[in-house]
Amino acid sequence: MASITLNHLVKKYGDGFPAVNDVSLDIADGEFIILVGPSGCGKSTLLRMIVGLEDITSGDLLINGERVNDKAPRDRNLAMVFQNYALYPHLTVYENIAFPLRLNKGKYNDEQVRKLVTDAATTLELTDHLDRKPANLSGGQRQRVAMGRAIVRQADAFLFDEPLSNLDAKLRGQMRAEIAQMQRRLGTTSVYVTHDQTEAMTLGDRVAVLKKGILQQVASPRELYEQPINLFVAGFIGSPSMNFLPATLENGVLKTAVGDLRIPEEKAAKAAGRQVVLVGIRPEFFEDASLVEEHKLQHGSTFTAPITHTEWLGNEQYGYIHFDPTPEVRELLNNLARDMDADELRPQVVVTLDAASRIRGGRDAELWLDTRKVHLFDPETGENLTRDAAAGAELTEEANAHRAEEIAAAHEEVPAAAS
Ligand SMILES: Nc1ncnc2c1ncn2[C@@H]1O[C@H](COP(=O)(O)OP(=O)(O)OP(=O)(O)O)[C@@H](O)[C@H]1O
Ligand SMILES: [Mg+2]
Repeated sequence: MASITLNHLVKKYGDGFPAVNDVSLDIADGEFIILVGPSGCGKSTLLRMIVGLEDITSGDLLINGERVNDKAPRDRNLAMVFQNYALYPHLTVYENIAFPLRLNKGKYNDEQVRKLVTDAATTLELTDHLDRKPANLSGGQRQRVAMGRAIVRQADAFLFDEPLSNLDAKLRGQMRAEIAQMQRRLGTTSVYVTHDQTEAMTLGDRVAVLKKGILQQVASPRELYEQPINLFVAGFIGSPSMNFLPATLENGVLKTAVGDLRIPEEKAAKAAGRQVVLVGIRPEFFEDASLVEEHKLQHGSTFTAPITHTEWLGNEQYGYIHFDPTPEVRELLNNLARDMDADELRPQVVVTLDAASRIRGGRDAELWLDTRKVHLFDPETGENLTRDAAAGAELTEEANAHRAEEIAAAHEEVPAAAS
């Protein structure tokens, strides 16, 4: 078990480009932390620095308070699970799992190896497959063998680099749940790299969002979702993504391409003195106005907009509103898309509608927007002007408390697995 501390870590590769740029992060003992961000933002580099596969250019890395910058990977006692599993094809599942123990010649006798491997196999439901070879296993089973190898080492922490990206969507969902449960049972500090924001939201206690080697925000999934610190985090977390609309603010009314939106005074005050802001609206902040209960209507703004088309998904539907961007807006959206490694940000607004809504494409529709929830961003710096830091911190504290309860409950249920 271990705490891991990153103090101003920097990694510059040969060409001088900082792949990891001044990252500081405290990872608590037993915590499950996710590193997320678009391709090339430095996630793998950071993980490899922690495990010792990559030199640290500057800054300090501490494990349990002890500086380990110069320690070899084998002396850090961390277990890494890779995307491609790195299993030995000629060895059985049993021997694959036992492999790290065999490397430690003399440290474990056969009986100890047998106990560690069979315990891990039980945890991972691999008992029936111990005599098989990796080639004969499904992707999910291979993934579990790779995890078994990490478990038997009784490492101080698990480091995962996109361990599920080779699996199909269904299996990925299943394995995601298994990894989350296993981590709670074992209570082993874990750092998990992914560029999949669903994995980030569902697995971690806290999520660290990276952009171009720079840490943007570290918080519980809910805090990231509800109180993002900037445009990048707001756009990266959530699917479908947050809508961004340029607007001018006049007397508490946002004039946008899809209509005029009256926002609460406190929000307008946060953007006081600015002519142009970027409004951030999650699709679910909208609703078909005819379906909104009377008492809720007053908390939002009702407006009419042309719906281009709708998609009915059974439990809900999406409506799309296309708008004509000015060249400045077009450029802003393009820059944003580049930052997020997205193909393109279309000049459109996505709205989530109740499944019962009769709103259809090709017509004007009356929509309601919960204006209490919208965010206003500085279009130049991307800063979220309306972020409520206290409300955000409360969400993360709540998540921490809930997490502590879950770990305690898991240990009561399966005391043997904690050893
Ligand atoms: N050995 C290397 N030499 C030089 N530059 C490198 C090296 N490895 C990675 N980089 C660069 O460092 C940056 C971060 O790479 P890294 O592999 O950490 O990204 P990542 O976030 O893991 O991306 P992905 O999601 O695609 O795996 C990239 O710009 C990459 O080109
Ligand atoms: Mg990577």
